[in-house]
Amino acid sequence: MDLESVKKKRESALAELAAADNAAAIEAVRVRYLGRNGLIPALMKNLKNVAVAERPAVGREINAFKKTLSTHLRERQAAQTATRPPATASAESMFDSSLPGAWRQPGSRHPVNRVIEDVVDIFATLGFTVADGPDIETEHHNFDALNTPADHPSRDIQDTFWLDDRYLLRTQTSPVQIRVMERQKPPVRIIAPGRCYRRDATDATHSANFHQVEGLYVDQRVSLADLKGDIAYFARRLMGPDVKVRFRPHFFPFTEPSVEYDFSCHRCKGQGCRLCKNSGWIEISGAGMVHPQVFRAVGYDPECVCGYAFGMGIERIAMIKYGIEDIRLLYENDVRWLEQLIG
Ligand code: PHE
Repeated sequence: MDLESVKKKRESALAELAAADNAAAIEAVRVRYLGRNGLIPALMKNLKNVAVAERPAVGREINAFKKTLSTHLRERQAAQTATRPPATASAESMFDSSLPGAWRQPGSRHPVNRVIEDVVDIFATLGFTVADGPDIETEHHNFDALNTPADHPSRDIQDTFWLDDRYLLRTQTSPVQIRVMERQKPPVRIIAPGRCYRRDATDATHSANFHQVEGLYVDQRVSLADLKGDIAYFARRLMGPDVKVRFRPHFFPFTEPSVEYDFSCHRCKGQGCRLCKNSGWIEISGAGMVHPQVFRAVGYDPECVCGYAFGMGIERIAMIKYGIEDIRLLYENDVRWLEQLIG
């Protein structure tokens, strides 16, 4: 090793650094020359083999080499971080593509809530707003004001969960009709979703706790034709353009005339299947024109106003919409089942 060879090495190191065009290449030059096993430490170690006369000059040259290269390296490294966009810098250093990802279960809406939201959205387009009432009701709101005779079988202990001799768990959402009309003058156009309770033995199509949506439309001129038209419009929006709606005469104490209405079975398109018990139809609930006695109970004049009311069973609709054969599946809350149902 002599002065000349050290100078040559310095030149080639600087040339290599000039040619390095990215951070990794610059780092490679540093390691090759200044790293622990790099060329410059090796030259230093070799200094003892240089002739004594030349040793100071060669030593100074090696030091100068180290200093120049270090300065140039620092400059290049600084320029490199300045030009590199910071996002890439952190993403590059933090992101390890070999790590397994963290899976987050996003969750999904329950079919019962989904149907309620759909019903509310559709009736909102007809000008209905959402009303609410308590689950614990008075006998007055759940029965008396709804023109239900004192000896009506639905009041029976068999059907109703009585809390004491005045309060009960509402058996239907119809008491919300009374609560709304008690506090509001006509016109009224409300939709009221909520839980209902009946002492029913649980089986594939019955549950002691279920959901209804109540509808009430009161104005000066409302007819059964409005009821039929609005229910049919609703059915098509909810189930698709092919669904058929059937109205059958029925009796409710709080409507006159009263009907029950069915949708054609969504599953078999009315051909008959297990879901519709081979009839091609699924019963949704009841409806009718508000009884004059109900208007009197809330202080409306039945000579001046008329209206229609309807109920609908939410679980029934969820079952036909999603093809569910057992109502109990809706309450078990097995997330795997709910997920594959909604998709
Ligand atoms: N409340 C009735 C039921 O639960 C349904 C209904 C609502 C009927 C409104 C007529 C009018 O069966």
